Amino acid sequence: MAISGPLKLFYVFITLALASNVSSSKKFDELFQSSWASDHLIYEGELLKLKLDNYSGAGFASKSKYMYGKTTAHIKLVEGDSAGTVTAFYMSSDGPSHHEFDFEFLGNTTGEPYLVQTNIYIDGVGNREQRMDLWFDPTADFHSYSILYNQRQVVFMVDETPIRVHKQRDGVPFPKDQAMGVYSSIWNADDWATQGGRVKTDWSHAPFVTTYREVEIDGCECATSEDLKRCSGSTVEKKGNWWDEPVMAELSVHQSHQLMWVRANHLVYDYCADGGRFPVLPPECKRRRG
Ligand SMILES: *[C@@H]1O[C@H](CO)[C@@H](O)[C@H](O)[C@H]1NC(C)=O
Ligand SMILES: *[C@@H]1O[C@H](CO)[C@@H](O)[C@H](O)[C@H]1NC(C)=O
Ligand SMILES: *[C@@H]1O[C@H](CO)[C@@H](O)[C@H](O)[C@H]1NC(C)=O
Repeated sequence: MAISGPLKLFYVFITLALASNVSSSKKFDELFQSSWASDHLIYEGELLKLKLDNYSGAGFASKSKYMYGKTTAHIKLVEGDSAGTVTAFYMSSDGPSHHEFDFEFLGNTTGEPYLVQTNIYIDGVGNREQRMDLWFDPTADFHSYSILYNQRQVVFMVDETPIRVHKQRDGVPFPKDQAMGVYSSIWNADDWATQGGRVKTDWSHAPFVTTYREVEIDGCECATSEDLKRCSGSTVEKKGNWWDEPVMAELSVHQSHQLMWVRANHLVYDYCADGGRFPVLPPECKRRRG
């Protein structure tokens, strides 16, 4: 029997949908585990939800640590009144001189824009906040939020559009040689998060739920000090990681233009422009010669 065109298409669609259903839910369990309040981490089919109520927030953490690579979370942020809540997606190493790359999504009252705060800790020192608003409503649908990390740059991306770059160059602190885990969590931060802490969490709107469709890690997995050497590229066999390719050492021309557009239209706060806070600007804030 001949199958008509539309019917065939329908069949293919179903197969793909089932296949991705299976792999994505399995993949999450392989890569991550609950790190805080496992009863506030909820599987719903292929989706994962973190719930904040007046008892607890929630979080998950990767089982492994990684050095260099890219991690991406497909997130739909808390809908409606999310004031006082913060959802974070970040990479971090351990210890007092740890490195950390943060996305923090600062909630807001219904209809008011979320802010995306990014920060970078290097050897235990942070204070590198930037804040942006977004060119879409992050509570209406899933969007991808990524951190790309190699020996030359740390890039924060939203739907693959770079919103921030920290580059390796002389005299500028750069995060090196520490294996980092991947984390996400939601918690109550109404002492500072929304409009400077003036708007408090309205618990009558709880639970506050952040939804994840997929969280990917494409990185060099690091369990031992041998792995650390291999991942840092100090041995010869590092070849083959796409993030170590020369073309990944800096943004493409197209990406640079995207970043300029984001900064021109969506930047709300940049520590590099905060002379009150930094009478002497940090070295990474100084423009490169020429
Ligand atoms: C796919 O997800 C749905 C819910 O979205 C769930 O009911 C179903 O059991 C899942 N199928 C498989 C094969 O895991
Ligand atoms: C938390 O919220 C629930 C439902 O609104 C309420 O019944 C309960 O008393 C609250 N608990 C605390 C510790 O505030
Ligand atoms: C919340 O909305 C207000 C009013 O539009 C805005 O000034 C603020 O930057 C928004 N974000 C946060 C996190 O307060």
